[in-house]
Amino acid sequence: MSRKYYITTPIYYVNAKPHIGSTYTTILADILARYHRQFDDKTFFLTGTDEHGAKIEKTAEEKGIEPKQFTDELSNEFKNTWKSLNISNDNFIRTTDENHIKASQKALEYLYKTGIIYKGEYEGLYCVGCEQYKTEKDLVDGHCSEHGTKAQSMKEECYMFKLSSFSDQILKLLKTDKIKISPSQRKNEIISFIEKNKLTDISCSRKNVKWGIRLPWDTEHTAYVWMEAFLNYLTGLGWDGDVKNTPKMWPADVHIMAKDILRVHTTIWPAILLGLGLKTPKEIFVHGYFLVDGQKMSKSIGNVISPEELMAKYGVDGTRYLLSAAAAYGNDGDISWKKFDEKYNADLANGLGNLVARVSNLLEKNNIETKLKINSDKKLIKNYQEKIENYQFMEALDLIWAVIKKCDEDMTKSAPWKLEDVKQIKKVLEPIAQNILNIAELLKPFMPVSAEKIITQFNQLQIKKGESLFPRI
Ligand code: MSP
Repeated sequence: MSRKYYITTPIYYVNAKPHIGSTYTTILADILARYHRQFDDKTFFLTGTDEHGAKIEKTAEEKGIEPKQFTDELSNEFKNTWKSLNISNDNFIRTTDENHIKASQKALEYLYKTGIIYKGEYEGLYCVGCEQYKTEKDLVDGHCSEHGTKAQSMKEECYMFKLSSFSDQILKLLKTDKIKISPSQRKNEIISFIEKNKLTDISCSRKNVKWGIRLPWDTEHTAYVWMEAFLNYLTGLGWDGDVKNTPKMWPADVHIMAKDILRVHTTIWPAILLGLGLKTPKEIFVHGYFLVDGQKMSKSIGNVISPEELMAKYGVDGTRYLLSAAAAYGNDGDISWKKFDEKYNADLANGLGNLVARVSNLLEKNNIETKLKINSDKKLIKNYQEKIENYQFMEALDLIWAVIKKCDEDMTKSAPWKLEDVKQIKKVLEPIAQNILNIAELLKPFMPVSAEKIITQFNQLQIKKGESLFPRI
């Protein structure tokens, strides 16, 4: 049965170019979107860039460029990178888009008129890197554990958002899986955090940040960047900010992200939606964090890996494969160039690529005709679907590579290149070719171009040798 499927990535800050972390999230979302489109699900896949706030303002200033020009450039980098990686997003939202600005203003004004946003004063600590308010408990010696920088103390007149009044409602939504969090261990962490800390009202406007969306009823203030950033999930669907005009694709079926921004997505975001009287997202999937050689990726360490470098070395599908196979369900992934090289050679060059080449070569050489069927292994399909639908990407690939391994073993055992009798050779090769066609179908969401190539090659009566899929490194 065809369903609605709305999937989002976080909108990425444009203070730096895309790196392996944002690339990972975006590839996973793309795999899910492509997977759902195969079932004719009415799919909408949204990604984009988060362009306002103190952090971007500061970065642009350091570079001596106007923020708008700076964000235009960086936002384009994201667009282009996703295009090269064959990311199939249906829209790319920028928070500097005119529609996003207008709709956000309308929504915020609604919250103001209903008393959910009210005038007050904020005094406390703030981390510009996170663009988040902090309590002493969040900090280590006054420093942000994520960015290592000292949190700034802030005291200013501002508008406040009544987050506290949504605490109980949100807890209930989380506990009953009305907003489901996967993996469940993350759900437990969040629930105990909210129970322990109780949600307090937050400042939702800034007077000294110019680079932001003006509050329409008091233009001295700009909106706190997260307040409007969240609304991208609605404005990206074309929403105009009117609570009576909810887009048909809303609510999101899943928001994908890493653990760094789960807390805000399970507190501020549902509270905004409840305040607006809109539905909350159905699910949040939290993947792990990437470390490079056991260390956090950072410009100062100089270990940031860019998607361009990966594509140059492993190709587009090679990059998609290596990243989607780099971490077990919800776990962190420790990556390195050495590991990538080894895995590329083992799984793609010597694994899938070599198998496809050997089998097609022998079939052509012996002039063997085959009759293969698409999707003939129902059990494999079922297991695979279960993995994907539970966000077990590496595990789904493991299932496919188990088939490849079995095919390699069958080849070695029966050594068809040594056989003389064409009937015998066919008996060995046909089931292997069938397996190749089966797994190519399943690889479509992960490696769209290579999978299509294999399918075109193997879905023929007379299979012919093709070009090398994954040249050895
Ligand atoms: N702009 C906010 C999100 C607003 S959504 C309404 C933001 N942007 S971000 O550029 O910092 O992106 C954070 C996200 O990027 C993470 O949640 C994750 O999806 C991805 N990653 C960034 N670094 C990562 C790793 N090192 N490893 C894995 N993913 C990480 O937060």
